[in-house]
Amino acid sequence: MAKVIVVTSGKGGVGKTTSTAALGAALAQRNEKTVVVDFDVGLRNLDLVMGAERRVVYDFVNVVQGDAKLPQALIRDKRLETLFLLPASQTRDKDSLTPEGVERVINELKRHFDWIICDSPAGIERGATLAMRHADMAVVVTNPEVSSVRDSDRIIGLLDSKTAKAERGERMEKHLLLTRYDAKRAERGDMLKVDDVLEILSIPLLGIIPESMDVLRASNIGAPVTLADSNSAPASAYFEAARRLAGEVVPVAIPSEKRGLFGKIFGRRAA
Ligand SMILES: Nc1ncnc2c1ncn2[C@@H]1O[C@H](COP(=O)(O)OP(=O)(O)OP(=O)(O)O)[C@@H](O)[C@H]1O
Ligand SMILES: [Mg+2]
Repeated sequence: MAKVIVVTSGKGGVGKTTSTAALGAALAQRNEKTVVVDFDVGLRNLDLVMGAERRVVYDFVNVVQGDAKLPQALIRDKRLETLFLLPASQTRDKDSLTPEGVERVINELKRHFDWIICDSPAGIERGATLAMRHADMAVVVTNPEVSSVRDSDRIIGLLDSKTAKAERGERMEKHLLLTRYDAKRAERGDMLKVDDVLEILSIPLLGIIPESMDVLRASNIGAPVTLADSNSAPASAYFEAARRLAGEVVPVAIPSEKRGLFGKIFGRRAA
């Protein structure tokens, strides 16, 4: 049965779009038919990260408003035939998506895909609540810093009250994806510790994605990091997170700063 996932955070710029692309590609790389849907109308970014910006003809708003059929707007990935993108409009304003239209499109996508991954806009306003409305599961993207954790806490409150699932009295499954984790800064005590974040948010941990230049390089060539550099540390972390989403039990390792002998000696002298 199709699973609808919302990738959400409250705070902007924490890695939602990066994670939508990487998790979507990782699930498609498992041979499961996956579509990533850009709810960030007006600011669309997912098409860039997916390397499809020149292939956008029709978008989500066109389909919602009945100006195009869903198959006309869906873009099949050039590298993976199980991966599709439903792009957002860059020119319309964010009120162009109507709740009824979104529901109709999600229901149509459910008939054709195993996974529907919705990339939420930042904030806790209408755009974010529309993106989470029909989700079965939520991936709450959080950076290990106080303002991001606080906004994630607010989003968790909305997931438990403003979604169709919550209104039916069902429990929304929520997973924490800790992104941009910098082992060096964590060891210095400059960032919140994984345990602290888990204690505040108290939702299960889906994965820890390290801060990495590999993510920037992948986004600059228009490829999800799991496709651009599948052996890199962030790609491995996203592959593992995708396996957990699919229900496999895979323990989460906290990335550590692996220092060589030189590093250790240097570290001691500096201290
Ligand atoms: N693990 C990472 N390591 C390094 N840079 C990262 C990582 N994850 C994301 N970034 C960078 O952080 C920036 C913001 O990422 P992204 O666009 O995915 O965030 P977002 O939550 O979707 O933002 P918005 O709220 O504006 O939609 C981008 O430049 C992206 O390349
Ligand atoms: Mg984004």
